[in-house]
Amino acid sequence: MPDTQLPAGTQIRRLWSTDRDAVVTLFRGLDPQSRFDRFMGAVSEAAAATYAARAVSAEGLVFGAFAEGTLRGVGELRPAGAAAEAEIAFAVAPGHRGRGLGAALGARLTQAARNGGKSRLHLRCLPGNRPMRALARRLGAELRLDSREIHAVLALSPPTLFSLWREGMDGVFDAAVAASTTWPIVNLPIMDLPILPAL
Ligand SMILES: CC(C)(COP(=O)(O)OP(=O)(O)OC[C@H]1O[C@@H](n2cnc3c(N)ncnc32)[C@H](O)[C@@H]1OP(=O)(O)O)[C@@H](O)C(=O)NCCC(=O)NCCS
Repeated sequence: MPDTQLPAGTQIRRLWSTDRDAVVTLFRGLDPQSRFDRFMGAVSEAAAATYAARAVSAEGLVFGAFAEGTLRGVGELRPAGAAAEAEIAFAVAPGHRGRGLGAALGARLTQAARNGGKSRLHLRCLPGNRPMRALARRLGAELRLDSREIHAVLALSPPTLFSLWREGMDGVFDAAVAASTTWPIVNLPIMDLPILPAL
């Protein structure tokens, strides 16, 4: 997968429970078409907010894309049945699309999945969702039309020492940034300290 060049002032990091309100705000800011694309069906703003309120604490890993310190994109990695498989999903704020946030979140999600022992990632979207199809292709996924949806499958190679090291370094950086922006350092929750992901 090609490296992603992010605009200056943009940062990708893991989200913790302290980011819950920002995730809710982002999902509330999605217009009806974006909610339709994200959930592959009509979903109210309230239902999207309810989903968002649980997103960070639900099983899996969630990463955020921040522009100038504000959360503008969310990438989710969720278990998908078999132990070596997982599902990914994205939501980028409407005014911040086409700037590489989705691709950068995808790179981080695939890195975490690979190092977490996943060998295949699945992504589903509507056939008319051109940005998502382009993003899936950019991540290296194979796309096929399953009845009335696109099912993208991304095969992951096994982790290497370098990928594990990189994940560890990113995790340490994530915690430092999150701590400096949201928590007094003494309140760092021990459960949230960066460890290699277990899904
Ligand atoms: C799909 C989505 C996450 C993409 O986020 P993004 O930050 O705009 O993505 P990027 O800027 O990294 O662009 C990814 C690819 O989409 C392409 N793209 C972006 N906007 C596009 C558009 N309007 N039409 C066609 N392609 C587009 C980019 O060119 C890029 O392709 P490339 O790598 O071949 O150049 C975003 O549009 C979104 O949140 N949509 C609503 C929710 C949704 O549909 N989720 C998917 C289901 S889980």
